[in-house]
Amino acid sequence: MKKPSRRLLLAGAGASLLPIGSTFAAGLIATPAQTEGPFYPTAFPADMDNDLVQVRGQAAQAMGTVLHLEGRVLDLNGRPVDGALVEIWQCDAQGVYDHPRQPGRERRDMAFQGYGRMILTADGRYTFRTLKPVAYPGRAPHIHFKVATASGGLLTSQFYIAGEPGNERDGVFRGAVRDPRQRERVEMKLAPAPGLEAGALATTMDIVVG
Ligand SMILES: [Fe+2]
Repeated sequence: MKKPSRRLLLAGAGASLLPIGSTFAAGLIATPAQTEGPFYPTAFPADMDNDLVQVRGQAAQAMGTVLHLEGRVLDLNGRPVDGALVEIWQCDAQGVYDHPRQPGRERRDMAFQGYGRMILTADGRYTFRTLKPVAYPGRAPHIHFKVATASGGLLTSQFYIAGEPGNERDGVFRGAVRDPRQRERVEMKLAPAPGLEAGALATTMDIVVG
């Protein structure tokens, strides 16, 4: 009798052990969901475009290090997801959110937009000009994000800075990253981007929705 190929055996094991939609079901590992946290806007700013460093009508630019954050939204097979809405929100360079539950909110940097959104471009990318996130008490630096797909899917999660020692002490990070391969989905590798903007950093983070 001809022995079944190793590939068939593996496919069979996958089919029996891994439900469809599982984090590990296909070629790509999904971006793990993480808590929305307490600071999602209760009221959206008048300017909520994808440049959080510059608020429309203000001459001043936000304090902090500019970060160009971009990437694609992909399904588990690596196919771009069309028409998704991507939102991000984060604290300012002093660690202060623009939110009613934020103690000391009045100290916030009024030149920082704090929240932005965009629909994927025609080539399937999102791009934000925002700030390198900073730590605040109890949390490693992070950027919150949500992705709503045209088919009704919703993913809420957070990005961190690769190499930041505080990640390992952050309860939200530890709860989300159960498999080492999930790290690349939530840890941003920051690189200087002089071609984009003097003094700015850049990172590419594909968001994989299951
Ligand atoms: Fe937060």
